[in-house]
Amino acid sequence: KKSEAWSALFSEPMSELVQRYTASVFFDKRLWQADIQGSLAHAAMLAKQGVISAEDHAAIERGMAQIRGEIESGAFEWKLELEDVHLNIEARLTQLVGDAGKRLHTGRSRNDQVATDVRLWLRGEIDLIDGLLGDLQKSLLAIADKNVDVILPGFTHLQVAQPVSFGHHMLAYVEMFSRDAERMADVRRRVNRLPLGAAALAGTSYPLDRELVARTLGMDGVCENSLDAVSDRDFAIEFTSAASLAMVHVSRLSEELVLWTSQAFGFIDIADRFCTGSSIMPQKKNPDVPELARGKTGRVVGHLMGLITLMKGQPLAYNKDNQEDKEPLFDTVDTLKDTLRIFAEMVGGIAVRKEAMENAALRGYATATDLADYLVKKGLPFRDAHETVAHAVKAAISHKVDLSELPLSVLQTFHPKIEKDVYDVLSLRGSVQARNILGGTAPAQVRQQIERHRARLS
Ligand code: ARG
Repeated sequence: KKSEAWSALFSEPMSELVQRYTASVFFDKRLWQADIQGSLAHAAMLAKQGVISAEDHAAIERGMAQIRGEIESGAFEWKLELEDVHLNIEARLTQLVGDAGKRLHTGRSRNDQVATDVRLWLRGEIDLIDGLLGDLQKSLLAIADKNVDVILPGFTHLQVAQPVSFGHHMLAYVEMFSRDAERMADVRRRVNRLPLGAAALAGTSYPLDRELVARTLGMDGVCENSLDAVSDRDFAIEFTSAASLAMVHVSRLSEELVLWTSQAFGFIDIADRFCTGSSIMPQKKNPDVPELARGKTGRVVGHLMGLITLMKGQPLAYNKDNQEDKEPLFDTVDTLKDTLRIFAEMVGGIAVRKEAMENAALRGYATATDLADYLVKKGLPFRDAHETVAHAVKAAISHKVDLSELPLSVLQTFHPKIEKDVYDVLSLRGSVQARNILGGTAPAQVRQQIERHRARLS
């Protein structure tokens, strides 16, 4: 389609290639609700300040209502030659209501307009993400609650370290996702500020009431420097950074789910509806969802790198570079939301293989530290106890038994102060129960933490 030149200043129209290269409408049209919302707040303020007439304001409202209907029904015709969502909507408004539509842009530039739209849209998405982070935490709390007394080996260096409650292990993720929610809430405070009124870069000579527009849009205040208001996208970078961390937490959980479903561990089963089979190996059930989430984490972290690099070389104020903020930001939001939704569901469908977990904990001398602590209570310095237990573990390894399976007479050859009550601390349950300290894995502590989180989330 042959299009017209931008304005009287231009002697030739853009080529189709340049048009396609510079246009953003096919991705930024998803900002349409924010764009209309921002325009209506601007128009109402223009009328109140006497910059446009009450009739013009009414015409703008009427036109926007119609446009809203057209977009919702799919009847709205988005035009590439109108470049972006802002010009598409404004052009249609003018088509519908004439000169009133042409007056809407008084005291405004697309530079403060787009910055406002992105902030309004992102604020809404942050609120949805906050809800989804809450849902995921609730799913984790439910599975933690059911499995407080299930014991699995805790690992360091992926070597069996000490027994821990499976409920406690799940609560570690609740902590991570609760911090992600806090970070989102913090980012939201800086997202929720109004650029409108900054105009192109220097402010405007019209008597705009910026604070009124901020209030109308539910914003916490205005951006106080016009150059900064139109040009910085740090709020988008911060959001993507918080989103990246949330994805990293999902990714760590994913890695564990993948390991735990593998035959070598056999700790859990993931419900079939989250897995796929193999086209060649009939026996396969693959944990695709956690694998993909781990993969998509790379993609979101990539968006963070993209956005932060986008910003670094830009002189003040607005540059068209910033149009490139949208696709990574949109994809970050979509990926995070889908991932959180699917995990909240999937976590609820995890079947815990209690025996496999406890057998694994029994295989790695997970209670060796407990034996050392036992000797410390009998008066040995910790370093000596540590050395004594190393000898006992060595003997158990050579007999291919657990520490708890060594007869008392054998244990006493390592230290005479070892008595019959040693078997209480050598059991998995005894070991876990002993760690009855704030933040520790004892079931009593885990139950308290679950209650604390439930109260916070309700
Ligand atoms: N589509 C543009 C963007 O996303 C809108 C602002 C364009 N401003 C301009 N002066 N060309 O950044």
